[in-house]
Amino acid sequence: MKKIVDKLRKECFLEKEEFIDLIQKRNDDCFEYMSSLARIEREKVFGKKVYIRGLIEFTNYCKNDCFYCGIRKSNKNAVRYRLNEEDILECCKQGYELGFRTFVLQGGEDFYYSDELLCHIVENIKKNYGDCAVTLSVGERSYQSYKRLFECGADRYLLRHETASEEHYKKLHPSDLSLENRKQCLFNLKEIGYQVGCGFMVGSPYQTVENIVDDLFFINDLKPHMIGIGPFISHCDTKFADFANGSVELTLFLLSVLRLMFNRVLLPATTALGTLDPNGREKGILAGANVIMPNLSPVSVRKKYSLYDNKICTGDEAAECNICVRNRIKKIGYEVVEERGDY
Ligand code: 5AD
Ligand code: FES
Repeated sequence: MKKIVDKLRKECFLEKEEFIDLIQKRNDDCFEYMSSLARIEREKVFGKKVYIRGLIEFTNYCKNDCFYCGIRKSNKNAVRYRLNEEDILECCKQGYELGFRTFVLQGGEDFYYSDELLCHIVENIKKNYGDCAVTLSVGERSYQSYKRLFECGADRYLLRHETASEEHYKKLHPSDLSLENRKQCLFNLKEIGYQVGCGFMVGSPYQTVENIVDDLFFINDLKPHMIGIGPFISHCDTKFADFANGSVELTLFLLSVLRLMFNRVLLPATTALGTLDPNGREKGILAGANVIMPNLSPVSVRKKYSLYDNKICTGDEAAECNICVRNRIKKIGYEVVEERGDY
């Protein structure tokens, strides 16, 4: 095991069979060793810095029906909402005062937000907060749309690929969605000039170790600036309601793998990780992550943005999460910084 880990550290990549072995045969010692190396690599590049991104969940309308997701269009129990431009700017104002220098506008695929409307919102955020980065996470759109939003000032784009294996993709999504298009979107975003984030869920239904290795290979082809991974968590109103949640331990292990593969990548310790384990986000940082994305959405809508069950922080004001996150990071010897934290 140690030999494979050392090879990964040195060459930042492995053969398929080696990755499979690494994941399948990992034990506690291997986990600890990986995680200590990941911390070393992370600290070489970023020191003890942790970047914070203010997440604004601005719409839970979605035209898609991904089988795992609580805001899928056919979930009749979801109470839908949209934030208007004024609401969004208010979230940014609060966030800016709390020290956030990146705002992530995330939503379902909701074409109520036309290019024109989104551009207007992005332009206004950039006008008011010129020293901040704007990240969009609004799903699959056309090349022209991505280009327009970039030209209006959006800096980054998050679009998890969800799984890089064709067969697995079909088990998680209805037939009107395609992996091919999703991958194309990611390459388009990169070509246009965004800092791009892809990612996947750990332990999603039917996922195999081979699927995870396919994800690592895809990520290596794309060479993204950010990678979002978190455990799958079942949602009671989806057809995956009875599937087991993903493993926190495997998620942490994969964070370390990703850190050894891509030493400069921006890697969040996700809310899903914090949902399955009360110290999940801290453990994520200690496994090699360097980003945390506290919620800036108005408390009145937070419970409604329910991608999975039991999501944390849905009752807390932005200011409370801000203090909480800063304390948690400080406790483990790291430091939240007031910087954009570009790649
Ligand atoms: N469990 C964990 N993560 C989920 N996501 C969506 N539904 C779930 C779930 N049930 C993730 C997807 C999506 C991101 C915004 O949230 O990977 O890209
Ligand atoms: Fe929201 Fe701790 S981060 S309450």
